Amino acid sequence: MQNTTTVLSRHLPSRTLGALALFGALLLPPVAANASDAREPDEVYRQVCAHCHAPDKAVGPEITMAFPEAAWEARGNYIRNTVRHGRAAMPAFRAAKISDPELEALIEALVRGDMATTAASEE
Ligand code: HEC
Repeated sequence: MQNTTTVLSRHLPSRTLGALALFGALLLPPVAANASDAREPDEVYRQVCAHCHAPDKAVGPEITMAFPEAAWEARGNYIRNTVRHGRAAMPAFRAAKISDPELEALIEALVRGDMATTAASEE
């Protein structure tokens, strides 16, 4: 009985762990797993949002206008909720498309009005 246990603990766990590690690697999101390789807010905006929200596209409403600081938190929650869950004709974007750090940086840039110049320069 003790022999069997020893054999199992020497061979089975390492194979199981190897399989689990491989499986875990396959499940990792393909884009930006940490803040260091996160895209800049204007890059995310151009790649993911602009083709609907840029003024000349007008599929979605203007979203780059600055908000007063007192409204940043509420507006930020609204943007986060809209991006993660979608809104009417707007699809949801998961973390594989926009990582959490990228979304937080984008939200900050949007509410401050930093992206208003990006949108204007594309006109
Ligand atoms: C496929 C087109 C499309 C893309 C891509 C898209 N949106 Fe939208 N978005 C829409 C549409 C359409 C609406 C209007 C939804 C409605 O009818 O309420 C909208 C609404 C919004 C609103 C609410 C606007 C308001 O003032 O009520 C926010 C915020 C928003 N989008 C942010 C984003 C962000 C940030 C991105 C990029 C990460 C993005 N959207 C990408 C189509 C899009």
